[in-house]
Amino acid sequence: MVESREVRLAAIPEGVPGQEHFEVVSAPVADPGPGEVLVRNRYFQVSARLRTLLAGDIEGTPLPPVRVGEVPPSITVGEVVAVGAGGGARVGEVVSHWAGWREYAVLPVAACTPLGDSLPDPVAHLGSGWTSYAALTVHARLRAGETVLVTAGGGGVGSLVGPLARVLGAGRVVATARTREKADRVVAELGYDAAYVVGTDAIEDVDVVVDNVGGADLRAALAAARPGARVALVGALSGQAGAAPVELDTFGLILRGISLHGVNTRPDPDERDEWLARFGGWLRSGALTFPHVRVSGIDSAPRALQEVIEGRHVGTVAVYL
Ligand SMILES: NC(=O)c1ccc[n+]([C@@H]2O[C@H](COP(=O)([O-])OP(=O)(O)OC[C@H]3O[C@@H](n4cnc5c(N)ncnc54)[C@H](OP(=O)(O)O)[C@@H]3O)[C@@H](O)[C@H]2O)c1
Repeated sequence: MVESREVRLAAIPEGVPGQEHFEVVSAPVADPGPGEVLVRNRYFQVSARLRTLLAGDIEGTPLPPVRVGEVPPSITVGEVVAVGAGGGARVGEVVSHWAGWREYAVLPVAACTPLGDSLPDPVAHLGSGWTSYAALTVHARLRAGETVLVTAGGGGVGSLVGPLARVLGAGRVVATARTREKADRVVAELGYDAAYVVGTDAIEDVDVVVDNVGGADLRAALAAARPGARVALVGALSGQAGAAPVELDTFGLILRGISLHGVNTRPDPDERDEWLARFGGWLRSGALTFPHVRVSGIDSAPRALQEVIEGRHVGTVAVYL
């Protein structure tokens, strides 16, 4: 039996979650039963997307809402340290799973994905790479030389979409950010050709949009979309509780032949393998990096969430344990 520290939701936030909405507690973790493993978590992702799950009951979210006293879910990488009766995994194996925000987790073997050595550093499994890749290739059907706009281009998804678009042959790759300072940072740190503050700057004409924000960013992106543009709708960061409403001139979209595609990625195993092989190759060759920020210690996780939502970081935020 080991003691594990974990972060629990202490109160449902009215708006933006702050550190006061969480508590860090120590709890004993049982030995793994038949068909289970004990995993020592190494790092987990902290994303603004959690805000929707903390807001109470919202229908249709990909994961269930987090109740007071529960530990939030998050994509996590850890190492198997004990295996229950029946086997199915081996001690020392590195796996990903969704039982994050805690140091140790007991899980069914089936809830763990063995990572092997597909990526040079397993931390890159915390990124939303498959989503980014599918948004650009399957949904937006990016063609060589086209101009790509990524809203919230410095977030976890955005920071992969921009560089990936470049590797996939895009011409200009541009982003939005909420402040001038952040816009300048994403140009300097992620290599965007330009970054715009919606409501302040005029956005250049674009062929492909990957939208992580909804609301005013989506409206501005559609205004800048060329005839025949494809828009991949990935996220709704501007929505406080799951919805990011925006009024659209559908007549204008029809006349310009602009298509909107909702991205809800659940890759089948073959697609996942194909993505990991390509991603691993690009990381090893140096064609891509995995933009991420390391935050140390379980106690730092609530502050990290607040900082992500405030837009203080560039890339995926990973809490190292
Ligand atoms: N469809 C799918 O399969 C799929 C998969 C993964 C993620 N998602 C969704 O994609 C979106 C992005 O996820 P992520 O992991 O990239 O999130 P993230 O890393 O937490 O994003 C951080 C960024 O969010 C921006 N942001 C935060 N609050 C905002 C607001 N109110 N308005 C505008 N921007 C705001 C900040 O932009 P600034 O830098 O400008 O401040 C910050 O840089 C989320 O909505 C997530 O649910 C969808």
